[in-house]
Amino acid sequence: MEIKLRLNSVKDTEILAKIISEKVFKGMIIGLKGDLGSGKTTFTKFFSKNIGVRDNLNSPTFTILKIYDGNHPLYHMDVYRLEDIGYDYELDEFIYGDGISVIEWYPYINKMLPNELLSIDFRVIDEQKRDVVIKGEGIYEEVVKTISHRYSN
Ligand SMILES: Nc1ncnc2c1ncn2[C@@H]1O[C@H](COP(=O)(O)OP(=O)(O)OP(=O)(O)O)[C@@H](O)[C@H]1O
Ligand SMILES: [Mg+2]
Repeated sequence: MEIKLRLNSVKDTEILAKIISEKVFKGMIIGLKGDLGSGKTTFTKFFSKNIGVRDNLNSPTFTILKIYDGNHPLYHMDVYRLEDIGYDYELDEFIYGDGISVIEWYPYINKMLPNELLSIDFRVIDEQKRDVVIKGEGIYEEVVKTISHRYSN
């Protein structure tokens, strides 16, 4: 299932992160993609607060992986630097672990990801506005349905 939403401001991105955080489960994987500066890290910051992370989440560009303590462990990855290599098997134990993985630029490591994940594709419309396409099959379809219901009323 796939839905498209218009986020009119950072506040809307915060609301989306909150809705998704209410559906987290052990081992959940959220893949983020889209333009530079489109809101992937911003989304992840709000998401982290909502799953009980107290530390301030920063952009992990130079480390690939940062681990945060919350209601579930949070593994925040930014795999931008893996574009040419396509994998980093040290990430496996996290991606396939019990915590929540949020992966910026996930298509760059597609070959080491499971088929099912929640994908959010961000597009810059203007300074404040973003379009997002959210996709999820299998266990993630339920999450997309929930988001869809929340925006239809
Ligand atoms: N509706 C919105 N949703 C998210 N961010 C927004 C929105 N409107 C404006 N912004 C701003 O856009 C910027 C998004 O930066 P952010 O670091 O989240 O992007 P990113 O997608 O992670 O970039 P990168 O590809 O470099 O990792 C922030 O400065 C944020 O305040
Ligand atoms: Mg980022």
